[in-house]
Amino acid sequence: MNAVGSTAASVPVRGVDGLDAIMRRGGESLRRRMEQIELHLGQVTAQAGTPLASHAATVTAGGKRLRPLLVVLAAESAGGPPETPDGEQRLVRAAVAVELVHSATLVHDDMIDGALLRRGHPTVAAVAGRQMAAATGDLLFSRAFAELARNADVAQLSALSEASSALAEGELLQREDAYAAHVAVERYLRRCELKTAALFEAACRLGALTAADGSPELAAALVPFARRIGLAFQMLDDVLDVSGPVERTGKSRGTDLLDGTVTLPFILAREREPDLAQFDLASLGGPGGPGQAEALCDRIAATCALDEAREQALTVVAEAKATLPAILPDGRSELLSLVADAVVERYR
Ligand code: IPE
Ligand code: IPE
Ligand code: MG
Ligand code: MG
Repeated sequence: MNAVGSTAASVPVRGVDGLDAIMRRGGESLRRRMEQIELHLGQVTAQAGTPLASHAATVTAGGKRLRPLLVVLAAESAGGPPETPDGEQRLVRAAVAVELVHSATLVHDDMIDGALLRRGHPTVAAVAGRQMAAATGDLLFSRAFAELARNADVAQLSALSEASSALAEGELLQREDAYAAHVAVERYLRRCELKTAALFEAACRLGALTAADGSPELAAALVPFARRIGLAFQMLDDVLDVSGPVERTGKSRGTDLLDGTVTLPFILAREREPDLAQFDLASLGGPGGPGQAEALCDRIAATCALDEAREQALTVVAEAKATLPAILPDGRSELLSLVADAVVERYR
């Protein structure tokens, strides 16, 4: 069933303590850079023209800003932006471009997933329909690349375009797998790498490429860290889809199951519970679907699948952190390591 077209009330969403702690630890320069990014994000979307700009603005006016934070921290781990007249601006543009791609994918993803809530507010597709959501997402994508093009750096543009292609491929694979009676764990992990980890990778690469001491080599060296925290982030997001609550996620519980998306918790629960192995997600397509999806979430939560999925994600986060000492000198990787912790913290 496609839920878009219904309405949903806004809900307040709780912040992430780990990210607040990073902001405190990062001090004045980090705070100033994140403020510049926020300001610039607002300017870019405001310039887009009405009526699309009003939807684009809704999208960019929220969220944890995890990916721009990664751009900045990766740059700071490589000595920060160079002290050239436009050094700071180049970093801000890279971070804004990454967040715009992220926002574009969220608008399209909600349209594809039939999701009603995003960042605690009704999705663009729910409020304005599928056509407006498709056009808004396209606009955000195009603004992202226009922004990054101003840095006139082919390596940066390649990093972001590779991530965009991966995101689209990930969504395509997910649709191919929709309602499947069996999805292999490896296939699920591949989808997560494509639709989520690739943009974490681009964020870290762009940060390293805009930094004073940065280099293509350092950008490449950060990739295993970035991909692993991105992978863990999606694995844990999929746990949250089952566990909720909406006050923590800003998204409706059971959205994945409702649109036929088979994620790790359901894969593990099916392996452990014979009744669930037979469960056909297409049966949630009727008018009672959302309630039935919640009941299915409860059944999955009653197995040990959520704990197992969390454990697997924690292992991936630990692997991510373990890559840092060989890449960066002591002191330069501390905040990146805290981001890895914050990815996990959101899900406790
Ligand atoms: C949501 O990402 C999409 C996923 C990859 C799971 P975030 O949870 O980072 O979304 P915002 O930007 O904070 O809303
Ligand atoms: C991530 O997958 C989608 C994107 C990368 C846009 P989800 O479909 O699980 O993300 P949410 O839960 O809608 O944020
Ligand atoms: Mg979704
Ligand atoms: Mg999700």
